[in-house]
Amino acid sequence: MRQSGLHFCCVAHLGIVARSRLREPRLMVKIKFIEHSGQEHDVETNPGASVMVAAVSNGVPGIDADCGGACSCATCHVYVDQEWLERTGEINPTEEAMLSLSTDRKDNSRLSCQIQVTEDLDGLVVTMPEFQF
Ligand code: FES
Repeated sequence: MRQSGLHFCCVAHLGIVARSRLREPRLMVKIKFIEHSGQEHDVETNPGASVMVAAVSNGVPGIDADCGGACSCATCHVYVDQEWLERTGEINPTEEAMLSLSTDRKDNSRLSCQIQVTEDLDGLVVTMPEFQF
């Protein structure tokens, strides 16, 4: 039996390896949120959630997320540090429409509920607009 370049003699041994991999610690992704005042909040989260969920679940002020991530409130607006902008993915049309209503929009504006946390975003830095304090 062969899986991912490894050889196993039987299904039982494959199961042992699979269970041991489940016990391996998952990488935690670090994100720095900076309030408009300059107050910094360093949080850790698992890949798979959104940047908004990482903020809300860690009590970061300024990310209200009134719509719960449905991309319809813009209270999760952040400015993505230029160094990270490409890695946060494309802005979808709904997000673009919401951001276009924001008076404090910049070139690096994103709605944090639309940015999925991946291992590539470990060290991500985002700043909150002045309006969100
Ligand atoms: Fe409402 Fe992001 S949480 S738009």
